[in-house]
Amino acid sequence: MSGIPIAKPIIGDEEVNHAMQVLRSGQLTHGPKVEEFEKALAQYCQYKHAIALNSGTAALHVALLAAGIKEKDEVLIPDFSFIATANVTKYVRAKTKYIDVDKKTFNMNPDKTVKELKKGKAKAVIPVSLYGQAYDVDAIVDAAHAAGAKVISDNCQAIGAKWKGSRNFNDDAACLSFYPTKNMTTMEGGAILTDNDELAANARIIRNVGMRARYEYLFVGYNYRMTGVGAAIGLEQLKKLDGWTEKRRKNAEMLNDLLKKVKQVKTPFCDERAFHVYHQYTLKAENRDGLKAHLDAAGIGNAVFYPTPLHSIPVLEAKGSCPTTEKICKEVLSLPVHPSLSEEDVHKVAESVTAFYAEA
Ligand SMILES: Cc1ncc(COP(=O)(O)O)c(C=O)c1O
Repeated sequence: MSGIPIAKPIIGDEEVNHAMQVLRSGQLTHGPKVEEFEKALAQYCQYKHAIALNSGTAALHVALLAAGIKEKDEVLIPDFSFIATANVTKYVRAKTKYIDVDKKTFNMNPDKTVKELKKGKAKAVIPVSLYGQAYDVDAIVDAAHAAGAKVISDNCQAIGAKWKGSRNFNDDAACLSFYPTKNMTTMEGGAILTDNDELAANARIIRNVGMRARYEYLFVGYNYRMTGVGAAIGLEQLKKLDGWTEKRRKNAEMLNDLLKKVKQVKTPFCDERAFHVYHQYTLKAENRDGLKAHLDAAGIGNAVFYPTPLHSIPVLEAKGSCPTTEKICKEVLSLPVHPSLSEEDVHKVAESVTAFYAEA
């Protein structure tokens, strides 16, 4: 049975031709094509600088280092995210503090985050714009800056997302991922966005083995460079992104409408200040695991992002309790919302959810 996938990267002739051009040019990595992509990305995202890297994880890691975060510094992160948000705090040996999330937006609970920031201990906060919806930028950025803490936004799922009409969140840096399932891709890839000249300069150096000029080393750096082929694909994807985002938003609206009578599911909550780019369309569902099995059997792609609170993943060696995160890990289920869905596909997805609860 050919099913409906939960995600589908779209690679057109434009991407293929542009990638071929780079392959034939001989300049395969870290050259003018990457610079061209960075310029286009900075302009699209409304930041002064964009620094391209080879993953979103690398972007978060370098952003923390370039912002001066070091061993034993306290860093606040949401308990509900992809593991990369936590991993990067471990890479710099920071003291990670896991903050519970809001039960409606699934983003960092602003009251709890502000309360923690007011203690004056945190050196940085990494708020995540989960599923493509901005976190509460007003509350968190203001409180962090008042407390002298840096804000490194994890917008890896949220390219194009806006807060009160702006893609620039007035943070110290924002990080993107271009992994193939994201709203646009460079195959693997990521980027740091910032208005801070010094942070940008340091990030460029750390990404390129810590080298400022040929064999002049300022840091123990990393090889986190993006390839020219990735950048060429990214340039073509960026031109198509707004159209894809509109399609995601339309699909989400259609699903909201088709599922509004199914009282066992809660469709995604949208903060009116946020422009949601629907990287994921995520329900809170009664008998989530039953619904998941039903959709699996019907060939409807679906996924649980995420089944485990970060603080209870053993390798992170964390302690604590975040009751809202623990609860929603058992309730969330993401459905297909990507731009390749036909109207008929969207109806099939909604009908399958509706049928499960009608049969129960
Ligand atoms: C919230 C979040 N943070 C960080 C990352 C890391 O990005 P990448 O997979 O490009 O390293 C991802 C990507 O999956 C993500 O969803």
